[in-house]
Amino acid sequence: MTEKINIQLGRVQETLLLPLVARAKETHYKNPILNDTKAAELLNQLHVDQKKLLRNLSEIGILGLCYRALKMDEAIRDFLKKHPNGKILDIGAGLDTTYYRCDNGTALWYDLDLPDSLALRRQLLPPPNNRVTYIGKSMLDFSWIDDIGDISNGLFITIPGVLPYFKEEDVKMFLTTIAPKLKGAELMFDVISQFGKFFVDMRIKKAGMKEAHLEWGIMNPETVVKWSKHIELVRTIKMFEGSSTKIAKHVTTKLGMRFNRLLDMTQLFHLRFV
Ligand SMILES: C[S@@+](CC[C@H](N)C(=O)[O-])C[C@H]1O[C@@H](n2cnc3c(N)ncnc32)[C@H](O)[C@@H]1O
Repeated sequence: MTEKINIQLGRVQETLLLPLVARAKETHYKNPILNDTKAAELLNQLHVDQKKLLRNLSEIGILGLCYRALKMDEAIRDFLKKHPNGKILDIGAGLDTTYYRCDNGTALWYDLDLPDSLALRRQLLPPPNNRVTYIGKSMLDFSWIDDIGDISNGLFITIPGVLPYFKEEDVKMFLTTIAPKLKGAELMFDVISQFGKFFVDMRIKKAGMKEAHLEWGIMNPETVVKWSKHIELVRTIKMFEGSSTKIAKHVTTKLGMRFNRLLDMTQLFHLRFV
């Protein structure tokens, strides 16, 4: 048996394990909402306490992370139908496996993450071909815009599980800086309300990541749209919108799904830069 890889990452970077574990676990269930064999394969190579991570994520955490990936996949596939030679940029890529679920054979893919997270990605998931480029930088180092280059064939930016870890002023600075420079690009990211932050933060801490704090809480996308005349709302998706609670096995999860929808605890914002 090959030896498993130990992980040593910074306090926010190590949170990349949570969506990976969720996608891998869901894939093993009968009728999964997301099928991600690459995530399952990857997780097998890592020396991590899966039981502890899963216990604390709980069923609603697993479903929420998979629902987020599912909705982002749908948006990316739609984008690729209109822009088959477009570019997809995954910010805070971690060990995200979107490329393996959505690639159309012609698009160009960019995965950006902090140097230590990206080094782990490179070790476990080396770029599969020359259409995939890895960028080891902070998203706040805006030189990545030059790395992406020409976006006349379209650019879709996906930022799953990243912005809630930043303070609102940093998110504002980030979006208002890139919006006028990337006109025409679409982007999608997940957000948590102030109330939802409390619950999700508790799960992250219970999973052993005591130093990773959620910072940005928001409910109304108009707040973001008002930050810049270059930001337009395409749509919002409420967590679990369109999903039956039948996807959950436990009553507490079913209740949690309803509660989540009712209170807009977690949503996806789909924006366009104009
Ligand atoms: C919860 S993980 C999400 C990983 C991945 N997006 C997914 O859904 O599987 C958060 C990711 O954000 C990355 N990150 C944190 N700060 C960042 C920054 N300033 N620039 C780029 N990535 C960052 C971390 O390294 C980590 O990979």
